[in-house]
Amino acid sequence: MRVMVIGGDGYCGWPTALRLSRRGHDICIVDNLSRRRIGRDLGIESLVPIATLSDRITAWSEIGGAPIKQYEIDIAENAEALADLVTQFRPEAVIHFGEQRSVPYSMMDPSAGLFTVRNNMMGTINLLEALVRTKTDAHVIHLGSIGVYGYETLGYEIPEGYQRVRNVDANGNLGPEQETLHPFNPLSKYHLTKALDHLGLAYYAEQHGIRATDLCQGAVWGAETPETRRDPRLANRFDYDPIYGTVVNRFALQAALDKPISVYGTGEQTRAIIHMDDVLDCVEGALAAPPERGDRVRVVNQIAECVSINALASLFAELSGVEIMHLPTPRSEPDENELIANNQSVLEFGVEPTLVSRENATDLIEFARRFADFADETQLYPVTQSPDLVPAS
Ligand SMILES: NC(=O)c1ccc[n+]([C@@H]2O[C@H](COP(=O)([O-])OP(=O)(O)OC[C@H]3O[C@@H](n4cnc5c(N)ncnc54)[C@H](O)[C@@H]3O)[C@@H](O)[C@H]2O)c1
Repeated sequence: MRVMVIGGDGYCGWPTALRLSRRGHDICIVDNLSRRRIGRDLGIESLVPIATLSDRITAWSEIGGAPIKQYEIDIAENAEALADLVTQFRPEAVIHFGEQRSVPYSMMDPSAGLFTVRNNMMGTINLLEALVRTKTDAHVIHLGSIGVYGYETLGYEIPEGYQRVRNVDANGNLGPEQETLHPFNPLSKYHLTKALDHLGLAYYAEQHGIRATDLCQGAVWGAETPETRRDPRLANRFDYDPIYGTVVNRFALQAALDKPISVYGTGEQTRAIIHMDDVLDCVEGALAAPPERGDRVRVVNQIAECVSINALASLFAELSGVEIMHLPTPRSEPDENELIANNQSVLEFGVEPTLVSRENATDLIEFARRFADFADETQLYPVTQSPDLVPAS
């Protein structure tokens, strides 16, 4: 299958491109390299040194991988170039990872927030528009976020996208059962973009017959995959700073360096997480099961488990013998919540969720320890506790 991987230089996009290439798909990566630029601007780097995108692709061919095409296009700003590439490559599927993905970045200052909204929303709309204009019947697999539903304790399992409701009619009688989109409750500009993206997908599915899947993903952990292990130049990024580091990876490096595990607020927040291997399996599952033309957007809660931050922190603290440090919570959200979400599709894809077990946490600490010399300890904790700065969990 011809698969366009937008954001294919990123944390999730790069290992996905390699996995799909290994499976025999013809891969075309589109990325404007903005994530690398933002890292340079903020003075934050991946713990694991990463090669340039061109060197990564060369390394893949040198070890016998199929050629991967690479295009540096800003999909939010250059709709024409994107549409031209769609015409030329004729993708049968587009996997859209190409967004600004950090909650803290989106709330750092007004310009970073507006950049996130413009970048994510226009990128998605430009992609959908390009498919319509070029009459390309490609399955769009978009990476959304499970955080789009907010972090209140709802007291029920969040369904995959749609909920059953019965409305009261004009005479006060209960109407028939219907399925509607479950309400969004975005608590950051980043999550706002994921809600807007979903509505964009729904509009183009309804009005233009676009086949779309929205993967509402939890915070990803891990980094290596069987493909990225094959050559140091294929290594994936591993972020640990307070802007881009996700919670499990951050805790693993703190543990590896014998530094306190940093918990924001009470630690009684519950978050949905997923290991990188499971992300790739889910993307493959979604690719193999596209909706029919005319179907509504398929929504997948792409999560492996829901865990409390305190439970995670205790595990990493115990394994490394370090303290837990509580920092003031900068988020405008409840101090504690219970999150339960249905992940039926993940199980239907045949994924056996990788959990943060003692063994897996130990392996991740060991992995982080191998790269400890590259760690910048000034990036382990937030320098200032801005009220707008929120953790990336
Ligand atoms: N990493 C996570 O924990 C996580 C959790 C939930 C959802 N997601 C979603 O998954 C997707 C991928 O996340 P990631 O962690 O790989 O992020 P990432 O920042 O590592 O990768 C995103 C890639 O997209 C590129 N990009 C951004 N804007 C672009 C544009 N306008 N045009 C072209 N390329 C652009 C970046 O340069 C980067 O290489 C994002 O949509 C993110 O919101 C990630």
